[in-house]
Amino acid sequence: MKKTEQLYEGKAKKVYATEDPDYCIVEYKDDATAFNGKKKGTIVGKGIVNNRMSNFMFRLLAEKGIPTHYVEELSDRETVVKKVKIVPLEVIIRNKAAGSMAKRLGLTEGQELKCTVLEFSYKCDELDDPLINDSHAIAIGAATEEDIAEIRKLALAVNDEMVKFFESVGVELIDFKLEFGKDSTGKIILADEISPDTCRFWDIKTHEKLDKDRFRRDLGNVEEAYAEMMKRIGLGE
Ligand code: TMP
Repeated sequence: MKKTEQLYEGKAKKVYATEDPDYCIVEYKDDATAFNGKKKGTIVGKGIVNNRMSNFMFRLLAEKGIPTHYVEELSDRETVVKKVKIVPLEVIIRNKAAGSMAKRLGLTEGQELKCTVLEFSYKCDELDDPLINDSHAIAIGAATEEDIAEIRKLALAVNDEMVKFFESVGVELIDFKLEFGKDSTGKIILADEISPDTCRFWDIKTHEKLDKDRFRRDLGNVEEAYAEMMKRIGLGE
């Protein structure tokens, strides 16, 4: 399958049309942003890591019965995906307190939670992706009640599989963000990416951060952390 015109350029990826209206090609960039684009930089080789890791995760999840947009990896940075209409929600799953939840609720990073937390943010750059609840999402037409029920079920199933898998490679999955879309038949499927940009990965023993927090917080060794995650999942050099 070949790229035709560029449909969209986001902060970390470009999306191209193909000759087939049901498929797109995504191309992952090395550009890194944080705080809704206020911090900008480059993480050398990130596009390759995020493309290959996302595809690896989507294949693993598909084996477990979770529908995804993944079709075929074309190159280190390019992948064919099913064309979807993105549901404008960032779906965040938290296994331990960290990041914005720790800050907002005065919790310590890494603090145990009494249950898994599922959050929604409304995807809107002008509003800085505000935290909303499911009734807000339905009220503003971002998703229907049925969509929300399906998304919740799929997101929790993804969490179960991802926690197990990352534990097996010595990594604790602290939290992560998912996006879902509707395919041409209206079915909700997992889309976007699963990578160190969109997950918090901590080494199980040392609690070393192996994700984009190293860039967000200027912790150094950013490229090394991305490369270490590739090694852990068996895709590294
Ligand atoms: P947060 O603690 O900053 O709300 O982030 C929660 C998780 O979501 C974390 O794993 C990073 C991921 N995330 C994204 O993928 N995109 C974003 O724009 C933000 C803010 C967080």
